[in-house]
Amino acid sequence: MTEQKATNVAWHEHNVTTTERTKLNGHKGAVLWFTGLSGCGKSTIANAVDRLLHDRGIHTYVLDGDNIRLGLNKNLSFSPDDRTENIRRIGEVAKLFADSATIVLTAFISPYKADRAQVRGIIGEGMFHEVLVDASLETCERRDPKGLYKKARTGEIKGFTGIDAPYEAPEAPELTLDSDKKGIEELANEVIAHLEANGLLSA
Ligand code: ADX
Repeated sequence: MTEQKATNVAWHEHNVTTTERTKLNGHKGAVLWFTGLSGCGKSTIANAVDRLLHDRGIHTYVLDGDNIRLGLNKNLSFSPDDRTENIRRIGEVAKLFADSATIVLTAFISPYKADRAQVRGIIGEGMFHEVLVDASLETCERRDPKGLYKKARTGEIKGFTGIDAPYEAPEAPELTLDSDKKGIEELANEVIAHLEANGLLSA
């Protein structure tokens, strides 16, 4: 649990409510939390869904690992504690986006169950949708889009998820995408179907 360091601060209710924002946008806010190994397709699928939704007039935003680590979280490493803080901060940012009636697509390895459970608590059931992008280590390593598995195998990178750092897969995600067998377009459509089935694309 992160310590509350600032004192003499109190939550201030907004004048414009989430319900009003939902009505204005014509759809609800939600967080689609993609999790999976590096190279499993999280960012690619999130961006494909982003494009499909945007073209339908839905307000969306993608938060992804490398981009956030170049800005907001540039002071965090890949140590277990820093990964936890990385995920906590993204959870808080995603909550703000969802509160503004935006559909947020986050693409972080988020390897620890406890960290994802914490984010679920921050964002809340109904609003938080955990999406497992399921690809075997063999598949991810074969793809190796950034050449990082190769570096991890030779020891150039230490503590790489799946090689010498753990990945704890979710047991009951809201959605599982079979990235070993299916292509990006099919998987993106499965995500859209999930959003529709949960009534998130209407106010
Ligand atoms: S997380 O574990 O804290 O959720 P995050 O999704 O932000 O990770 O960043 C993962 C990306 O950082 C990977 O896709 C990869 O490009 C890069 N990366 C660099 N070093 C590591 C490492 N040791 N383990 C995993 N990913 C790494």
